[in-house]
Amino acid sequence: MAKRSHCDKTNVRHLIEAAKEARSRAYAPYSRFRVGAALLASDGRIYTGCNVENASFGLSLCAERNAVARAVADGRRQFSAIAIYAGTDQPVSPCGACRQVLAEFNPRMMVIMASRGGAFRAVGLERLLPRSFGRKQMKNKT
Ligand code: THU
Repeated sequence: MAKRSHCDKTNVRHLIEAAKEARSRAYAPYSRFRVGAALLASDGRIYTGCNVENASFGLSLCAERNAVARAVADGRRQFSAIAIYAGTDQPVSPCGACRQVLAEFNPRMMVIMASRGGAFRAVGLERLLPRSFGRKQMKNKT
């Protein structure tokens, strides 16, 4: 996929398209709620993920965390934005667990929540997860 490091309007569209494409590979036979995510690394690479469910429901994996895992496994740790697409009329927000995992790498990353028909909402992760727990807080132990 093309390298795009700055998150301008064209890149937002590109990220959303990548999330849509990833959604087409979601494995969601239980909820039938298919989600795709596309994570933009600082070197311009895009890493996608989809949700992967399991008959033991609690083991299901979210699209966002799968995208993070793929990127980290490929040696990337700096991310500027993530797009999420679930084919819904209203944009879907990342779950709490995914917010925390995204914040580990960039608490200020741009979260682009796209809905069907081309509309999207973009907010900083710090608005979705204010006063987040992070490694800095672990330094203040007694
Ligand atoms: N899901 C995601 O993959 N990302 C989200 O942001 C919301 C929820 C998945 C988990 C599960 O497979 C299905 O959507 C229904 O919760």
